[in-house]
Amino acid sequence: MADNSQPASSEHALDRDCTTLSRHVLQQLQSFSADAQDLSALMNRIALAAKLISRRLSRAGLLEGVLGFTGEVNVQGESVKKMDVYANEVFISVFKQSGLVCRLASEEMEKPYYIPENCPIGRYTLLYDPIDGSSNLDINLNLGSIFSIRQQEGTDEDGAALDLLQHGRKQIAAGYILYGPSTMLVYSIGKGVHSFTLDPSLGEFILSNENIRVPDHGSIYSVNEGNFWQWDESIRDYIRYVHRHEGYTARYGGALVGDFHRILLQGGVFLYPGTVKKPEGKLRLLYETAPLAFLIEQAGGRASTGIQDILDVVPDKLHTRTPLLIGSKDDVSLVESFIRERAEEKTVSLTK
Ligand code: AHG
Ligand code: MN
Ligand code: MN
Repeated sequence: MADNSQPASSEHALDRDCTTLSRHVLQQLQSFSADAQDLSALMNRIALAAKLISRRLSRAGLLEGVLGFTGEVNVQGESVKKMDVYANEVFISVFKQSGLVCRLASEEMEKPYYIPENCPIGRYTLLYDPIDGSSNLDINLNLGSIFSIRQQEGTDEDGAALDLLQHGRKQIAAGYILYGPSTMLVYSIGKGVHSFTLDPSLGEFILSNENIRVPDHGSIYSVNEGNFWQWDESIRDYIRYVHRHEGYTARYGGALVGDFHRILLQGGVFLYPGTVKKPEGKLRLLYETAPLAFLIEQAGGRASTGIQDILDVVPDKLHTRTPLLIGSKDDVSLVESFIRERAEEKTVSLTK
């Protein structure tokens, strides 16, 4: 029986240090086919984008022109940070000469960016949120990038990208980078959820946690309670419930990737509900809620709008938003039970 109290053998340590992201993808697919090589190369390019963004973030306070706003407003109606623009450009530059993706659809761009020479049929589209949690940028708190990969369907000759307006189960890969004390990349190609930690001395993402499973229940609820009076009564019922019952603790970092990562590892539920004024909520389906829903389902958890699974939502436009409940299946179901109860009461009162 191996004595686990001893440090890993040097052979094991070396093998672990060689489990890079691109190798892991090929191991996952158990194939060296052209498609497998493409996906492995795609993930490698995402890792390169992550390293470029991580490097700039780690020196943000020392360089001119990294922090602060550009003065522009993006298609989301949000003030754009210089880092949003930089990170968006990084993904485009990294994929331009890759021969891998035909289109890049970004939270920061009204329309997808086309790379015509990479558009033979069946090519990939990268959908991404280049910097998530940009309100944390100027205060040096954790940030993320979120990505999703879909296979192009049809020719999209008119550039309307209508084939992207499909449910989230069409995703072939999804993940995020967490720029925190260490830079981590978490991904799934539909065979479990795995995390890699950037080893700056190697310049490689090295496998650090394989087949991550979210606990069926956790004590954490993560929500911006500043919106309490803007929510539907059912959400207020849930918040009152966790306030009055032992065993719950609130954690909210203002950056979806960091708040999600905590829930993925420790269990619980993250909520970004709709409000009376904006029933569809704030978070974007194609670049935020659908990729994370893909991951949480792969890890044994759930993601819902409160009414239906996030992965079943079919967007009517590229920048569609959805409300989001995501995390441990028992905790997501508990929130949904309050929504169902209020809906049933409303139906009963309407039929009186
Ligand atoms: P982004 O920086 O990409 O616009 O995303 C910000 C999102 C998400 O990261 C976070 O969960 C949410 O905004 C926080 O919103 P509030 O500040 O309204 O709580
Ligand atoms: Mn975001
Ligand atoms: Mn963003």
